[in-house]
Amino acid sequence: MDGRLAIIGTGRIGEALLRGLLRSRWLSPDRVVCTDALEARCEQISAEYGVEATTDNRAAVAAADVVLIALKPQVLVRTLTAITDAFNTDQTVISVAAGITTSTIQDAIEGEVPVVRVMTNTPVQVDEAMSVLSGGTHAEDRDLDLAEEILSHVGEVVRMDEEYLDAVTALSGSGPAYFFLLAEAMIDAGILLGLPRDVSTQLIIQTMVGSATMLRDSGRHPVELREMVTSPGGTTIAAIRTLESAKVRAAFLDAIEAAKLRSEALARGE
Ligand SMILES: NC(=O)c1ccc[n+]([C@@H]2O[C@H](COP(=O)([O-])OP(=O)(O)OC[C@H]3O[C@@H](n4cnc5c(N)ncnc54)[C@H](OP(=O)(O)O)[C@@H]3O)[C@@H](O)[C@H]2O)c1
Repeated sequence: MDGRLAIIGTGRIGEALLRGLLRSRWLSPDRVVCTDALEARCEQISAEYGVEATTDNRAAVAAADVVLIALKPQVLVRTLTAITDAFNTDQTVISVAAGITTSTIQDAIEGEVPVVRVMTNTPVQVDEAMSVLSGGTHAEDRDLDLAEEILSHVGEVVRMDEEYLDAVTALSGSGPAYFFLLAEAMIDAGILLGLPRDVSTQLIIQTMVGSATMLRDSGRHPVELREMVTSPGGTTIAAIRTLESAKVRAAFLDAIEAAKLRSEALARGE
């Protein structure tokens, strides 16, 4: 990247993005400034990555071409409103704050500054994020291209209209929690069957990783892959009958719809 990047709020996700961008060499340490609320955290980031880190959000934003906002939703509007004069219309502002709309950010920083909203998920911390981008009123293709380039260093990226972001939040935003719950339940099942906890855990983690890799790399539909392990009169179909009797499939549909409704309610401030 030729310009300067400011990362506002260098917590877990801000640091994950910094690490991914430096490691890929898309960004050199002299082109980024990170901010945080705590001086001690700034010193830690600076020492670990060799980048400038400061508690001065205004100075960081004013000197940047791209502003990446990784603040918690609760502090975002207050923080941006306090430094609104530091933004300019040549910048691209990219926010990864869950549930904060582009119009809320545009109102906080005023002027016709391009804003791109990103809904990513916790695997961003291991460079396996699923990120979905939406442009605000003033964002052009070059702003979305830039956001896509940045997020592609920590996982996969898709562009969608902002109206879909509550559904995205319910599906891939909360998605890791559903898989963790499934892993927990399956590990417990191994323990119920008498396996040691560590063995049960290893079996389930590798089975999840292997299944996800097959799903991603084979290009085959999940039904097709499931049929490959479901032989007539066999063990798998016995388990699947129990899952279908327990209405697990319907529970997933209801659960993910509930998450979308909750995301909409949170966006209305409820
Ligand atoms: N973590 C994820 O995997 C994930 C996934 C999807 C979306 N997100 C979104 O990413 C955003 C950040 O999440 P996170 O998990 O990274 O949270 P986090 O670890 O709490 O990071 C937020 C950082 O912002 C700093 N901060 C607070 N007030 C500030 C201010 N006025 N100026 C500068 N920095 C300030 C905090 O500093 P101190 O803590 O040092 O006070 C903290 O380091 C959230 O909006 C969340 O919705 C996160």
